[in-house]
Amino acid sequence: MKELKVGIIGFGTVGAGVASCLLKNAGVIEKRTGVKTVLTRIADLDITSDRGVQVPDGILTTSVKELIDVCDIVVELIGGTTKSKEFILEALKKGKTVVTANKALLAEHGEELFRTAEANHVTVHYEASVAGGIPIIKSLREGFVGNRINRIYGILNGTCNYIFTRMEREKLGFQDVLTDAQRLGYAEANPSLDIDGFDTAHKAAILASLAYGKWFGMKPVYVEGIRNVSLEEIRNAEELGYKVKLLAIIKKDEKDAVEIRVHPTLVPEESPIAGISDVFNGVMVNGDFVGNTLFYGRGAGREATASAVVSDIVDAALNLANGCPERLQSFREGALYSELIPMSDIESRYYLRITVEDKPGVLGKIATLLSNYNVSISSLMQRNRNSEEEVSIIILTHMALESEVQKAVRMINQFPEVKSPINLIRIEDL
Ligand code: NDP
Ligand code: HSE
Repeated sequence: MKELKVGIIGFGTVGAGVASCLLKNAGVIEKRTGVKTVLTRIADLDITSDRGVQVPDGILTTSVKELIDVCDIVVELIGGTTKSKEFILEALKKGKTVVTANKALLAEHGEELFRTAEANHVTVHYEASVAGGIPIIKSLREGFVGNRINRIYGILNGTCNYIFTRMEREKLGFQDVLTDAQRLGYAEANPSLDIDGFDTAHKAAILASLAYGKWFGMKPVYVEGIRNVSLEEIRNAEELGYKVKLLAIIKKDEKDAVEIRVHPTLVPEESPIAGISDVFNGVMVNGDFVGNTLFYGRGAGREATASAVVSDIVDAALNLANGCPERLQSFREGALYSELIPMSDIESRYYLRITVEDKPGVLGKIATLLSNYNVSISSLMQRNRNSEEEVSIIILTHMALESEVQKAVRMINQFPEVKSPINLIRIEDL
């Protein structure tokens, strides 16, 4: 039986999970695939702390260089974009196959990494970089290879979904829930990546690249995080038959022009995406032949992420054991779209909450201004006065052009009767 040596750089949450899975399920993997993946080295800055996994003697090291030299498959699990890039490039240049869960690095430097891999006749695998344990990369690359991808909707950040779910169920404040997400190992070392939407945007950029054949990077991705979504928005959404989700929206129009955006979104409460709660992720893919498909699973955490990393290790091992290290190309250039649609040109429905002084004529003034910008109201709700004699007007619009809505919002915000900036959330009827 062919044996492949595996080295893990980074013995943190995911690294410890991968070590545990490889050690526990090595027999299962061997029986299924006919290859033996041998955990040979684990490198970390700290090799004395207990990581909750009993590893064989002599495999822990502080030398990444030595790990790269002795292993066939190098697994990068340190995160960040500096050292990780350096280690991956070094491994690729030495002809080693690389596995990573690092979506930030891929979104920002994917092109360079894939070019280096190609030049050295090896591959970079990244299943765990999007949606944790859900095999969405493999599905887009292999399962849906015969389809043109029309749409992808994704709840791709476990931390944000966990925060929204607990705010909704327990009426808790944002910060209390974030602290729990960090304690549970869901949040990034820098949680701003999660809550400001960048982690979802990294993942959206990766999915869009697989769907539309160009490593887009972050430039074309519109990003808005969840900091401004208050309990009030979550309650109003519920009353209107919606849930609030941080959604990645990747879609093409009939002319094959593509939009990629990430923002809090109202989704109908009866849609399958709305039912995805807690740290779970969900991805809906629509292909021209397959139609709608829905994936559901844990998007973060030690075990689920380890499951995805190990599937990549096994793919890499099968490539190498069969003497064709480039058989499974993780990404191939070949543009399948016509152009990128700028955010100002997208069309959507909108939720607007406007806090105004409760006096005659205000509602009429707002409705007239919206109509001046071709924004048509589909429904309207007014709350009772609060203690300052103000009221919240909640407007849902029909489809409207983003640039027109933004202009209207700027104008309404300047009305003297408007007491705080409008809360705007886009609606996707899926
Ligand atoms: P952790 O911070 O838990 O683990 C990273 C480990 O790498 C730490 O032990 C760290 O040591 C070590 N490390 C940092 N720099 C170096 C270095 N230069 N040389 C050797 N070791 C180093 O991160 P996670 O395990 O959570 O995440 C790892 C990667 O997986 C990231 O790219 C993340 O985005 C991705 N990911 C994480 C998921 C999750 O649920 N946690 C899910 C999907 C992807 P020290 O602590 O001393 O700095
Ligand atoms: N911080 C990320 C999340 C980890 O919460 O989804 C998984 O990529």
